[in-house]
Amino acid sequence: MQPAPENPLDQTPFEALGGEDRVRALTDAFYDRMDQDPAAGPIRKMHPEDLTESRQKLFEFLCGWLGGPQLYVQKHGHPRLRMRHMPFAIGESERDQWLGCMAFAMDQLEVQGELRSFLDARFAHVADFMRNQG
Ligand code: HEM
Repeated sequence: MQPAPENPLDQTPFEALGGEDRVRALTDAFYDRMDQDPAAGPIRKMHPEDLTESRQKLFEFLCGWLGGPQLYVQKHGHPRLRMRHMPFAIGESERDQWLGCMAFAMDQLEVQGELRSFLDARFAHVADFMRNQG
């Protein structure tokens, strides 16, 4: 497996993105897209009908993962993300649906330039790590 891409910025991605409110907006845009885009239907169906908790957990996780406050770890402990995704069949198609929703969300928030290239690479890396088949 490729190593995770290194941060080329002179601040954390969390700071470059604009802090908690922007991570919240990113998470909301991501799940709104998953909810609305028929192309993401297969991964939408894996999630609970009510996405409130999914939104909150991804928001908390991303804050820490981007170099901000470790909200997820404080509440739930180590994320063990790969293990938590094992009950769901995640292949290339599901990975790409997830990344498509995230790219759409970043477009909506106008995440551009060096930060965008870095986040595209980091999300691609972690989403591929979640793959447990194909
Ligand atoms: C690759 C395709 C992926 C699929 C199909 C997928 C699907 C899911 C599903 C079905 C759940 C359980 C429902 C829920 O708790 O919302 C979940 C939970 C979660 N996912 Fe993903 N996911 C993917 C990738 C990712 C990636 C790349 C990240 C992080 C960058 C991520 C972060 C999370 C988090 C933080 C949770 C909540 C874990 C918990 O229960 O505490 N997922 N995901």
